[in-house]
Amino acid sequence: MGEGISDYTKFSVDLRRHMWLSGVDQELRRLIWQIAVTGKYISAKIHESNRKLAGIKNIYGEEQLALDRSSDEILKNQLKFSGFVREYASEEQDEVIQIGQGSESYIVTADPLDGSSLVDTNLAIGTIIGIHKASVFGRGRDSLVAALYITYGPLITMVYSAGKGTHEFVLNREGEYVLSEENIKMKEKGDIYSLGGLRKEWTEKHRRFIEDLESQGYKLRYSGGFVPDINQILIKRGGIFTYPALTTSPQGKLRLLFELQPMAFLMEQAGGMATDGSTPILDIPVVKLNQRCPIYIGSKYEVESAKKYLEGEV
Ligand code: F6P
Repeated sequence: MGEGISDYTKFSVDLRRHMWLSGVDQELRRLIWQIAVTGKYISAKIHESNRKLAGIKNIYGEEQLALDRSSDEILKNQLKFSGFVREYASEEQDEVIQIGQGSESYIVTADPLDGSSLVDTNLAIGTIIGIHKASVFGRGRDSLVAALYITYGPLITMVYSAGKGTHEFVLNREGEYVLSEENIKMKEKGDIYSLGGLRKEWTEKHRRFIEDLESQGYKLRYSGGFVPDINQILIKRGGIFTYPALTTSPQGKLRLLFELQPMAFLMEQAGGMATDGSTPILDIPVVKLNQRCPIYIGSKYEVESAKKYLEGEV
């Protein structure tokens, strides 16, 4: 698509047309579109099962748990019917599930409803997807062919990459995903930081890195939802999100396969970086499904600066 679609026409370009114009392989196009459509069903489920809408106060949080599971079911069934997926790995399942005949092209990983405990507070939540052509065990760089996330916020947006840049679409009133940000390009340096983990459990090196950012006037932006927090950095085109190694959990909190790899793919495609503090996320082999990993993700300056502190150069 060269320089991209002109401003004049871009708001009338829907997801399917964009993928076709970008030369995304036909099966992959259909699969991404199917997942984007599934986002509408998950969003409907969020509304349908919200106790506030039903006038019932959610005291115990069971509804969020049910929402995680029902989003997983919806996604799994849609992928099964797509005919393009041989295996499905989800944060909600203990093992990789075979959902196709075995000859289909793709394996899909999902965090069907990340941050679902935020539903009650009306903060944004999201779905995170990785699309692999080979086994999910190993380096993401060798198997991932596409990644996307859907944000359920004031608007429903979808950000995808099939290895040809990172693009954002917004669900309009007619129920179409239309192009809103094409070829997102990260700046070298941003001015926001998003920090997971308790400060008292940070390592000394991490604390010094954060104090450096603070001395430069970085503004704190952390909602506790991984999807909207990453989305903010991408759409603002700079800054850093980190959920570091903690003294109580040296591998941090977030899951390499379900959460970190797809976001790293999208960030790299936008010209940003994602590491565990030294190694790129996409080069860290997955050896078990629920493997956790520290993360530093965002624009180059901040991620490289984190590496200098963590490797003891500063
Ligand atoms: O993995 C689930 C999740 O809710 C992410 O969406 C988010 O980034 C993180 O955990 C928040 O963790 P904490 O509550 O420790 O800040």
